[in-house]
Amino acid sequence: MSHANTATPRLDVSKLLSHRAKSIDASGIRKVFDLAAHLKDPINLSIGQPDFPVPDVLKHAAIKAIEENRNGYTQTQGCPELLRAIWQRLGSEVGWSHEPKDGLSTIVTSGTSGGLVLGMMCLLDAGDEAIVPDPYFVMYPQLAALTGGKIVLCDTYPDFRMTAARIEKLITPRTKTVLVNSPGNPTGVVLSHKEMSDIVDLCKAKGILLISDEIYDEFTFSESRENGKFPTPAAFTKDCLLIRGFGKTYGCTGWRLGYVSGPHDIVQSIAKLQQYTYVCAPSMAQYAAAHAYEIDMQPWVDRFEKRRDTVLAAFNGLAHVACPGGAFYAFVEVPKGLGMTATQFVEKAIERNVLVIPGKVFSTRDTHFRLSFAAKEDTLARGLSVLTDIMRGR
Ligand SMILES: Cc1ncc(COP(=O)(O)O)c(C=O)c1O
Repeated sequence: MSHANTATPRLDVSKLLSHRAKSIDASGIRKVFDLAAHLKDPINLSIGQPDFPVPDVLKHAAIKAIEENRNGYTQTQGCPELLRAIWQRLGSEVGWSHEPKDGLSTIVTSGTSGGLVLGMMCLLDAGDEAIVPDPYFVMYPQLAALTGGKIVLCDTYPDFRMTAARIEKLITPRTKTVLVNSPGNPTGVVLSHKEMSDIVDLCKAKGILLISDEIYDEFTFSESRENGKFPTPAAFTKDCLLIRGFGKTYGCTGWRLGYVSGPHDIVQSIAKLQQYTYVCAPSMAQYAAAHAYEIDMQPWVDRFEKRRDTVLAAFNGLAHVACPGGAFYAFVEVPKGLGMTATQFVEKAIERNVLVIPGKVFSTRDTHFRLSFAAKEDTLARGLSVLTDIMRGR
C-alpha cells in the first residue's frame, strides 16, 4: 500500500511544535554527517564511544537476567544489586556512604543524559542560571530549552580548564548550579585536585550546587591522578551531585545506564521526576552493571593513554593541543597560518576521507576540531597522517 497519498489533508506541524522543540538547532552536527554520508569506509576519528566490545562478564550477566525473566520494571531508584555495588564503589573511592548521617542518595538513570536532564529539571526554574564550560558536551546548551533555565557559558580557552576564577566572574543572584565535566568532552582535559577543591570552596561560599559530570572518570590517565586517585569534588564535599555512567567505561553506550549520587533531597526529587518520565533505567543493563566493578579496565585505559601520546606526538610543533588527561578525545587547534575556520579544515579532511568534528559543534568558536582516538591504532595513524599533511599544505 502506498503511503504517498497526496489527497490526505496534512497537519501544519510547524504550528504544533513547541518553542522548545523549535529552539533546538541540530544543524551543526547534521552538516558533518551530511558531508560524511557519501564517504565509503572513512577513516573515522569522530566516534564518541570506545572501540572495544562489552566485556563478556557484562554480556553474560545481561543475557542471564533476560533468560531468568527479570525483564520487568525495577524500582525507580534502581535495582538493589546495582545500588549496593555503586555504594561500595563510592565508599572505597571517596568515603561516601548511604548511612543517614551522610544525607546522601543514589538513583540509577537512563544514561548519564537521563541524570543530567532530570537533575537540571529539578534545579532550574525559568530564568535560573547554570554555568557550563565552553567547549561543552553537546547537550549542555540544550538544557536551557529543556528546562526553561538559562545556560551561561564559561569560556575555558585556550587551556580548557574551568577554574574557580573563571567561574566566579559569571555568578549572579540567579546562579543555581555550576556543571563541571572532567575528563572533558571534547577536550579530554582533567582538572587537578586543587582546581576541584577551589571550585568546591567557591560553590560553598556562594550557596550554589556543584554538579560533576564524571562520565569519563575511569579513563583518567596516570599523570592526572594524584596517588592514583581520580580528581573529583566528592573527595572534598558531600554537597555536590555526581553524575556518572557505564556506557563509555564498558563499551555499552546503547544500554543507557548512568547514576546520580548526592544530597538526599535532590536525588529524591530526581526520583520523583524519573517515576513519571523514564520510570526506571533498562532492567537487564542494571542487573549486568551490578558486576561492572569486577572488571579491570586498566589495560584499555593504558591503551588509550598510548594513543593519546601518539596524537600529541603527531601534532607536536604543528598545532596546539591541550594535553588530554583522560577520555578519548583531543581538541586540536587549526593552525592560524592556514587561514581556515575549523569547519573549512574539516571539509578538507572529509574530502580526503577522514572524519573529525568541527569545534563549532561543541563551542561558540570555530577554531578547533575534535579528534576521537577511540579507533584502532592503524586507523588512527592513517588519519593523523592525512590531518598533518593538510596542516603542512601537502
Ligand atoms: C560529557 C558527557 N556527558 C554525558 C554524556 C551522555 O552519556 P550517556 O550515553 O551515558 O547518556 C556524554 C556522551 O557523549 C558526554 O560526553
